[in-house]
Amino acid sequence: MGASEQHFLYQQVAEDMRRAIGMGTYPAGERLPSLRRIADHYEVSLATAIQAYQWLEDSGFIEARPKSGYYVLAQGCGEACEPEISTPRMKAGEVTVGQLALDILAEARRPDIINLGAAIPGPDLLPLKSLSRIYAGVVRRDVRLLGYYEEQQGNAFLRQQIARRLRVSGVRVHPDEIIITNGCMEALTLSLRTLCKAGDTVAVESPSYYGMMQVAEQLGLNVLELPTHPRDGVDLDALQQALDKNLINVCLFMPSFNNPLGSCMPETNRKKMVAMLQRAGVPLIEDDIYGDLGYDSVRLPAAKAFDKKGEVLLCSSFSKTLAPGYRIGYVVPGRYFDEVLRRKFLGNIATAATPQVAIAEFLQKGSYERVVRKATRYYQQRTERLRQLVLQHFPEGTRVTQPQGGFVLWVELPEHINGVALHDAALRKNITVTPGVIFSPRGDYRHHIRMSASMVGLDVMTDAVNVLGRIAHKV
Ligand SMILES: Cc1ncc(COP(=O)(O)O)c(C=O)c1O
Repeated sequence: MGASEQHFLYQQVAEDMRRAIGMGTYPAGERLPSLRRIADHYEVSLATAIQAYQWLEDSGFIEARPKSGYYVLAQGCGEACEPEISTPRMKAGEVTVGQLALDILAEARRPDIINLGAAIPGPDLLPLKSLSRIYAGVVRRDVRLLGYYEEQQGNAFLRQQIARRLRVSGVRVHPDEIIITNGCMEALTLSLRTLCKAGDTVAVESPSYYGMMQVAEQLGLNVLELPTHPRDGVDLDALQQALDKNLINVCLFMPSFNNPLGSCMPETNRKKMVAMLQRAGVPLIEDDIYGDLGYDSVRLPAAKAFDKKGEVLLCSSFSKTLAPGYRIGYVVPGRYFDEVLRRKFLGNIATAATPQVAIAEFLQKGSYERVVRKATRYYQQRTERLRQLVLQHFPEGTRVTQPQGGFVLWVELPEHINGVALHDAALRKNITVTPGVIFSPRGDYRHHIRMSASMVGLDVMTDAVNVLGRIAHKV
């Protein structure tokens, strides 16, 4: 049996036991079957059973008691501890939080900081060594790569590899329909610039990624926030209402694992949403940057997969999966291809060639799935653990999302606790979290924070959440 098969097996056992614990088959305090019995029952080796229990223990579902066995830990309050669907004002307006977001991000870069806020992948989970070997090989083989401008649309070999990968999310495009960008951020900016003029309104999920708010602010766009469910994403009835009233020029959504909610829109809703938007003649910018980081092994089709008119602009990058420092992203702009490409050229002529070729070679080698799968397992475990720690240490009334992908949590604190004050006090203890106010255009979500489980080890995380919990009781 290969290493990856072994990895897969212990995950299957752990997942099955996790489900049994969730369903109450093994209630809190109950002793679990012995490792030997687990190995017999699932017909796996003892080593696999040990790995499965280790995973459950690291995720905070069970504990080992010396000389006694494994016991189920109390699992908190389930769905009752998740935030409810958001209720924004549904009134378009200008963005005012841009500078605050920049200040907070600058602080999070301090090298001595315990980072429980930034949505940056864990560096140990990225294939950085293997990528840098490929990168060095690319330059050695053909130093001329550095001596000319790459095609303005992006490297043809990379576009071919991306076109192949997109088939996994149900998107069938020719490599020539893809434009390579400097990260997903440039893909989003080019799309917004192409589709909107100052004063137009872009509809977003509420809460939503602050980078997008900043772009909207720069372009003089109004932002309309839509009610969004922490599990299922944007509320389609609310979207229909806004469309009926002609309130929206463009939508910018993250159907797969919204940052910061982690919500994932069901497949039927994706299909319905694209049909609704196309009936109304409103284009959709789909930010799919977290699309490959779902905990489930089956990936849902992107909204782009249901696009019959070229009105969905799919944006993504390798920043959350391979290497944020390479700055390689892409956009599939559908019928807006020519305009997006023209803006790309005017902005920076083309994206650097070497990182494009290195990523293309990495994708061609076929290790992407394995790398992403391993990272996702880790994120699932750490996110679950972080959630439990927060529910354990934060004041009563705290609610936390339970995402099915990615590595961030959206934490709703009791109303009297100010997220910025918590952030400021935590910073004095060298811990950072991201205040909720920057995830809405006009500084709502005052008693919310975003937390990230990707950057710190388990022990540091446990201590830091303990400290944060004490601060939260005080502020
Ligand atoms: C939802 C979302 N979109 C876009 C970006 C920007 O991606 P990139 O680093 O590829 O430019 C981020 C980065 O955090 C993000 O979280």
